[in-house]
Amino acid sequence: MRISITDRCNLRCTYCMPEEGIEKVDRSEILREDEILRICRIATGLGIKKFKITGGEPLVRGCCKGLVRKIKELPGCEQVTMTTNGQLLAENLDELADAGIDGINISMDTLREDRYRQITRTGDLKRPLDAIDACMKRGIKTKINCLLQRGVNDDEITDLAEFALGRGIDIRFIELMPIGFADEDKCVGSDEVMDVLRRAYPEIEPDSSTHGNGPAVYYRVPGRSGGIGLISSIHGRFCSGCNRIRLTSMGFVKPCLCYDDGINLKPYLAGTDNELAEELSKAVQNKPKQHCFENVSAVDHHAMAEIGG
Ligand code: GTP
Ligand code: 5AD
Ligand code: SF4
Repeated sequence: MRISITDRCNLRCTYCMPEEGIEKVDRSEILREDEILRICRIATGLGIKKFKITGGEPLVRGCCKGLVRKIKELPGCEQVTMTTNGQLLAENLDELADAGIDGINISMDTLREDRYRQITRTGDLKRPLDAIDACMKRGIKTKINCLLQRGVNDDEITDLAEFALGRGIDIRFIELMPIGFADEDKCVGSDEVMDVLRRAYPEIEPDSSTHGNGPAVYYRVPGRSGGIGLISSIHGRFCSGCNRIRLTSMGFVKPCLCYDDGINLKPYLAGTDNELAEELSKAVQNKPKQHCFENVSAVDHHAMAEIGG
């Protein structure tokens, strides 16, 4: 279960938000910490064992680290991971490690300071870079997320791969989805990424070992540690194996990232745990057969920050 604990973010990535940010949801509409925890407890009762904390940017919400700890302590919970832009990570890492975080994905689309600033509008590249070093020192399982955009950062595929392999960590190249403020014409397909990687690393080979719980398909370069993953959000046909359910910060359960249907759990929070469990089960059972990203007009146009990726 992916839990977006806030729609707020300290960055303004061009594909995700307009310059002035998205309209902020009133805090009273956001699930409280105890409500998130209750939903997680009920989810574990239904057999959901792995949780990923997302945002917006999860670390802008004060209760983030406490939530990691409390979800981790739930009977039946096997894993709590987080996806973050890394701006606030280095200074929060000790507490996250103490809370028992099992892995952290850090979004970093470029290695060039000026580009990072251009893509995120307000970000400082030094921060995710320092955070990656700090995670490695701590021995926390770390993966880099790189969202490729044609004409923006698609000339850095090899540099980014080399950065990750040089540190022995995973990097995943993500196909841009037509969600939020993304320009779908800028999507760089995984086939193209693979062509570049094959030229740079002729010996690159598929890696069937498990690196995470998501749709990434991994490759390795013999003699190097660290993996290269491709997240083919548009061209991949991974929907039949999809194991995700998403909870938004406003308490909406989305069976699929692509469609805006789902179940609003808020009214059920006043009811019993059994009623909530029934609604959660319904959302799982009503997962659509596949996404419809190729038909842009049918896609949920809620901002990505509300859904959490
Ligand atoms: P782990 O490998 O377990 O860490 O999970 P993950 O790769 O799903 O984690 P992360 O939050 O870093 O997501 C990386 C990218 O994959 C984001 O752009 C997500 O939107 C995308 N993604 C994750 N799950 C899905 C999915 O079910 N469908 C699609 N189309 N994209 C997904
Ligand atoms: N398509 C694909 N991935 C996206 N992300 C944000 N917006 C999009 C989009 N339109 C990614 C971020 C981050 C992850 C949580 O979601 O780059 O790595
Ligand atoms: Fe924030 Fe992530 Fe959106 Fe960038 S993509 S503005 S880091 S929520």
